[in-house]
Amino acid sequence: MEILITGGAGFLGQQLIRALLDRGALEMDGVQHPISRIVCFDQVEGVLVEPRVANVAGSIADPATVSSLVGRDTRAVIHLAAVVSGTAEADFDLGMRVNLDGTRHLLDACRAAGTRPRVLFSSSIAVFGGDLPAVVTDATTPTPQGSYGVQKLIGELLVQDFNRKGFIDGRSVRVPTVVVRPGAPNGAASGFASGIIREPLAGVEAILPVEPDTEMWLASPRAVVRMFLHALALPESAWGWHRSLNLPGLVASMRDEIAALGKLGGQAAVELIREQPDEQVRRLVRSWAARFDTSRARAMGFTADADVESIVRAYIEDNPGAVRVGATRH
Ligand SMILES: NC(=O)c1ccc[n+]([C@@H]2O[C@H](COP(=O)([O-])OP(=O)(O)OC[C@H]3O[C@@H](n4cnc5c(N)ncnc54)[C@H](O)[C@@H]3O)[C@@H](O)[C@H]2O)c1
Repeated sequence: MEILITGGAGFLGQQLIRALLDRGALEMDGVQHPISRIVCFDQVEGVLVEPRVANVAGSIADPATVSSLVGRDTRAVIHLAAVVSGTAEADFDLGMRVNLDGTRHLLDACRAAGTRPRVLFSSSIAVFGGDLPAVVTDATTPTPQGSYGVQKLIGELLVQDFNRKGFIDGRSVRVPTVVVRPGAPNGAASGFASGIIREPLAGVEAILPVEPDTEMWLASPRAVVRMFLHALALPESAWGWHRSLNLPGLVASMRDEIAALGKLGGQAAVELIREQPDEQVRRLVRSWAARFDTSRARAMGFTADADVESIVRAYIEDNPGAVRVGATRH
């Protein structure tokens, strides 16, 4: 089978492609389908060179390009292409073109294929914000407080309606903040949650722009990739009518993250974190939901990370080159 991954050259896209290549098959409805081809579509060329991977460069905002991506052999589509929260907020037009128009173009292309492909849309907990209940559930009304969250929510509604019309078999998952993101910081407003682990482990100073007690809803890249694959594997009957789902994560404060860093990276790493309040970031992060009841997802078999320490340990294991000598590897 052929799989299309938009935004495939990005952080989660590359991890997902590696996981798919390792498995060699995509599970759907209890059947393992051998993977013949993965189309990695992104505005930048993917770096994974492998006979089963076709790296295709182009913009999701261009309908003509997108219409050529979904063929009759495309059984599964994973839609990750997006500009992230800080970027979508700073450049309204870009966010609308990529996150909203791009999603519509992709769904139109899936419809035009006429094969009702299975489509997974990576939404975000940023669809929730503002005056929220203490614990957000799948029944909480989404009230996004930024353009990114609005664009993700509209994307979910489009997935829901294309699914209802029988054009696709659609599923949207609201991804927690993913830590620890390797490499250079991106435009995500939540970037510091990764930075305060990644930078000190590399021997570099990191800025904490929010109060240490600030809580966030977190998941590791390993857990998110596993949950993406589970979301595609489940039969339609497990999803039912409502196709948007809050993914399990864990609630942790920045203090919890720093404690895990100290345990695995040592006190010298902790001392590289500098508190430098940024009112704009604080305001935005305060408007996000940190506590979720994900019983629906858990009943469907989705599972979160065990604790913050295991998230940091996974980062150290997966990125040995990015970690200065001294950090504990288990
Ligand atoms: N990482 C997180 O914490 C997190 C949390 C919630 C949701 N998500 C969602 O998961 C998805 C993947 O996130 P990520 O962390 O890998 O982000 P990322 O920025 O690493 O990947 C997104 C990819 O989209 C590509 N892209 C941007 N504009 C494009 C365009 N016009 N045409 C084609 N490709 C374009 C980028 O080049 C990039 O490779 C995104 O949709 C994001 O909104 C991520």
